[in-house]
Amino acid sequence: MAKKQTSETSSKTTGGVRSASQAKSIGVLFRIAGPVVVAKGLDARMYDVVRVGKERLMGEIIQIVGDKTVIQVYEDTSGIKPGEPVENTGEQLSVELGPGLLTSIYDGIQRPLPTLIKQMGNFIFRGVDAPGLDHDKKWDFKPTKKKGDKVKHGDIIGEVEETPGFTHRIMVPEGMAGKIIEIKSGKHSVDDVICVLDSDQEITMMQKWPVRKPRKVRKKLAPTIPLVTGQRVFDVFFPVAKGGAAAIPGPFGAGKTVSQQQLAKWCDADVIVYVGCGERGNEMTEVLTEFPELQDPKTGKPLMNRTVLIANTSNMPVAAREASVYTGATIAEYFRDMGYHVAMMGDSTSRWAEAMREISSRLEEMPGEEGYPAYLSTRLAEFYERAARVVPLGIDTEGSVTIIGAVSPPGGDFSEPVTQSTLRVTKTFWALDAKLAQRRHFPSINWLTSYSLYLDTLESWYAQHVAADWRKCMDELMSMLQEEEKLLEIVQLVGSDSLPERQQVTLEIARMIREFVLQQNAFHEVDTFCELKKSYLLMKTILHYSNLANAALDQGVRAKQLLALKAKDRIAEAKFEKNYEKLLKDVQKEMDVEFNKL
Ligand SMILES: Nc1ncnc2c1ncn2[C@@H]1O[C@H](COP(=O)(O)OP(=O)(O)O)[C@@H](O)[C@H]1O
Ligand SMILES: [Mg+2]
Repeated sequence: MAKKQTSETSSKTTGGVRSASQAKSIGVLFRIAGPVVVAKGLDARMYDVVRVGKERLMGEIIQIVGDKTVIQVYEDTSGIKPGEPVENTGEQLSVELGPGLLTSIYDGIQRPLPTLIKQMGNFIFRGVDAPGLDHDKKWDFKPTKKKGDKVKHGDIIGEVEETPGFTHRIMVPEGMAGKIIEIKSGKHSVDDVICVLDSDQEITMMQKWPVRKPRKVRKKLAPTIPLVTGQRVFDVFFPVAKGGAAAIPGPFGAGKTVSQQQLAKWCDADVIVYVGCGERGNEMTEVLTEFPELQDPKTGKPLMNRTVLIANTSNMPVAAREASVYTGATIAEYFRDMGYHVAMMGDSTSRWAEAMREISSRLEEMPGEEGYPAYLSTRLAEFYERAARVVPLGIDTEGSVTIIGAVSPPGGDFSEPVTQSTLRVTKTFWALDAKLAQRRHFPSINWLTSYSLYLDTLESWYAQHVAADWRKCMDELMSMLQEEEKLLEIVQLVGSDSLPERQQVTLEIARMIREFVLQQNAFHEVDTFCELKKSYLLMKTILHYSNLANAALDQGVRAKQLLALKAKDRIAEAKFEKNYEKLLKDVQKEMDVEFNKL
């Protein structure tokens, strides 16, 4: 008989070999400590999903000691008593992958929040089973393979228009291969069989995948293409590669959330997976109301059409928060495997690390630095390693997952364990600086402490796609910013008048770089997004002034005269101008005229 890919069979192919009868073992609750409970008499395997108590709360096995099984529970455990039953489902914590992911808002274990709220009212989701995908909705399936074609894991057999203009590619699940006997176009639910193989296997539009296991790829590719963000400070000075990872640590109010949302809106990824862990009480509620209203600048349609939102409010159990980043990473990898570029944001990963710490302390594990478990850095590394640019199993083009993790170190102290462990594995570091935010310098990314280790690998991409001298311009600007820092120390001691003429001019150019390139207003209609060509022309125009000014100094012109010139300040207008090319060309001409007059 043909096997349908139901949750039971898929867990066998993905989670290991176990028959359902073996798996459904029942134990008894023995001890309860908040989100962590202990059961006895359970036939247990690490990371199996269990049902705890009479209310059948969902949990996951995280430790096995002798006949005792330690379980983290994804729901509020108050009212649960020792002696209540615990059932092992034999399945691993998995997500449902298929059409319907986009536009969804989930909790950390892929339960759709709107459904939960409808069923349970205000954020008390105990014992609710809500599948990740809508199993009733019919999708119009268009086969791209035909009878007689041979297919295997990862191959694309057809397509569905998931949201207007977005093609969801249906892939052969792991463990399935053979020649197609039948393939059905037309309207189907995610449970309907749409393809039958000669191996007796039946394929639906949905597959399951255990969240803690990275999805397989054919080949990993070098990070040679930037994730273009439209944010000058990132694109010019501290780029992140597609398939790379960036950390954005900053104290409260420094701009983590605004930056993440700017990236979600403007970066050139096809799909956005946004994992929010609320910091303030109402912050997640803001995200939940604001995100669905965001407009996709590329299409004018809702940004949610290519977004999956995973939300942890502060009153949700910590274990669900712990799971949420894996749920997000798995969904991101699934779209990557269709050949898409995916950007995943975690805001803030500190809340995830704190969930790990709380669970660890309930387990009475030996605490490491600042109470975090000793495996904190391993977990962070494993998570960020899921960022990659790859050739997927079933297609010859590429896909990628880029991970951008916000970190909120207490007191803004970057030496704390979560920031440090994150920095060890992410190659781009965007250091938010509260002092800059206070000075209203936005985005308040500190240009002296931030870095990108992708500069060299991305250099030739910029040379090919924007301008041959992109890197050279950037280096020149950066060295002036670095010199400014040194000069400002001297100015503090002796005042700016005592600086040599040339250095007074350098200070002026550095100011221009800060104001015309680094600063960018997220809330200005035009300035909110800056294409690479515009960033380049802004740099070039500043360097044009710099070259003219230095030549003039050589000929004995005074710094005062150079600083008083007017054209250079018109560069600021270009930031807010759609027709920036003409404007910047005019500014350069005006500069030439001004300098000729000197
Ligand atoms: N790029 C930006 N442009 C303009 N204003 C910004 C920008 N980034 C941050 N801000 C301002 O700073 C405030 C705090 O930023 P937010 O991202 O909420 O901080 P965090 O998430 O780090 O606590 C915002 O409400 C906004 O007023
Ligand atoms: Mg925030």
